[in-house]
Parts: sequence; structure tokens; C-alpha cells
Amino acid sequence: MSEIVYLNGEFMPLEQARVPVLDRGFIFGDGVYEVIPVYSRHPFRLPEHLRRLQHSLDSIRLANPLSDGEWTRLTRDIVARNEGDDQSVYLQITRGVARRDHAFPKDAKPTVLMMSGPLSTPAKDLVDSGVPAITATDYRWLRCDVKSVSLLANCLLRQTALDAGAAEVVMFRDGYLTEGSSSNIFAVKSGRVLAPPKNHLVLPGITYDVVLELAAAHGIPCDVREIPEQEVKTADELWLTSSTREVLAITTLDGKPVGTGKPGAVFRRIHPLYQEFKRKVMRQAA
Ligand code: PDD
Repeated sequence: MSEIVYLNGEFMPLEQARVPVLDRGFIFGDGVYEVIPVYSRHPFRLPEHLRRLQHSLDSIRLANPLSDGEWTRLTRDIVARNEGDDQSVYLQITRGVARRDHAFPKDAKPTVLMMSGPLSTPAKDLVDSGVPAITATDYRWLRCDVKSVSLLANCLLRQTALDAGAAEVVMFRDGYLTEGSSSNIFAVKSGRVLAPPKNHLVLPGITYDVVLELAAAHGIPCDVREIPEQEVKTADELWLTSSTREVLAITTLDGKPVGTGKPGAVFRRIHPLYQEFKRKVMRQAA
């Protein structure tokens, strides 16, 4: 069965979905997006994703084309029309189609796309082994809190990691940890979880919030503060988090082992807590 997508009010097979070349998403990367994990056909933390979407839209001065109720119905619809209990819903809104001009068009209609593909969360061997990462300078713009479709820097940075045989970059700006190319980064030092604050330099991750909530609820000490590069390089543990990769241990950084070079003790507590939390939320939604 082909994937069914929603484009500007209509459902259609993915192959039939077309956007004009003058779409500002194509010409300028002028749009925002969300990725929502779906477990057992239930969208995970949908209200939080919609809140972040509103923040992104407000930040680029684009009116939300749908209400939260409409987004919720649409998400359920797209999930129902596609195969698989676990899916990854992608939605994107651009400023619409207009003659190429940097200035905002006066009366363009936003382009609204929603699609859903299979959600592939990390396999058990990856969870057990952890992944390699490399360090990089964060050379993105200064509004990384906006989930913008302009992801050229993120793509270049991710490819640098892949070329080095690593799964992710751990980025620093002015000597402090920011995040990964498509994930948030946590450190652990002497049993304390360290997380960079949510500000304009990082995407406010939904998984980041879940991890901090779980740590607080289970008495794992956490500090949300600026983390100097040196502290990251000497951390006992490093983790990356995202909706698709959940929580993964980073076990080497620039080819050197992080801590023991295996997923650490705090990771081995948080990972099962995350899995259990997911199952609990899904049971409640059912
Ligand atoms: N990316 N930081 C960046 C730059 C990201 O692109 C992402 C997620 C995250 C983690 O956010 P969340 O926990 O809400 O997924 C942090 C998605 C998955 C993507 O672009 O595919």
C-alpha cells in the first residue's frame, strides 16, 4: 500500500503529492515542521508538539492555518490511513506559493503537508552498545529554538558525523554544549544529569522534557545549566535524545571512550524508565 499524505486539504498517495516550484519552502526554506512519534497508533505528546509548532509559527510570523483540534483530528486521520502501529508523523507548513521575493507575500496561502512513515526506533543492539559521536562547532543560526525546515547546516553537520563513522555530532558554541544535528545532548557527571538550558541556541526537545521529568520523578539529580566543552569531554556518560532515536548512549566521542566506553549506570536506569513511561501513556490513551 502506498503512503497516504495530506496536502492542502486533500488526502492522496505520496506519489501524487505535488508542490509548485515557487513554494517558499522550496525557494527559501521558509517554513516550519514537526516530527511526532506514534506508538500503537497513539501520537506521543501531541499537545506538546502542537505547542512547539505554535512557537515556531509565531517566531516566523506565520498564522497557524489549523486549530489544535484540527491538527489533532488530522494527525489521527493520517495515522489511520497509513500502515503500521508505530509511525512517525511529519508535518510541514510553508509560507506558500509566490513570485520569488524575500519580502513576505501579501496574500499567499500557507502550504500544509502531513505524512506518516514507519517509526524505526533504535534496535536493541544499538541501545546496548551505544553510538559513536564526534564534536563539531555549532555554526547554525541564532534561532535554533525554531523548528525550521531550513536544515542545511544540520544536514552538513550530520554528514560530517557519518563520514567519520559516527552517528551524531555533539556541538559547541563559544565553548558550551548546544545539541546534536537532530537531537538534544545530555551529560552525566558523578551521578548527576547535566542538560543545557532551553534557549535560542537549542531546539526545545519533547524527548528532552520527558527525560528530565523522568529523572526528577525517580530521584535522579539533574542540573539544567550551561555545560563547558571540557565537562562534556570528561563526562562519565553522554546521551542523545530525539523523538525517533528516543534515548541513546554516546559511547565514544572523537574516537575516545566516554566513561567506560559502554552505556553507563544512569543510562541503564533512564532507558527502561522511558520505555515504561511510553507504555503507560499508550495504555492510558487506549
Ligand atoms: N529532530 N534538536 C534538533 C536540532 C532536532 O532536529 C531534534 C529532533 C531534536 C530533538 O527533539 P524531539 O525530542 O522533540 O524530537 C533536538 C527530528 C526528530 C527531525 O528533524 O527528524
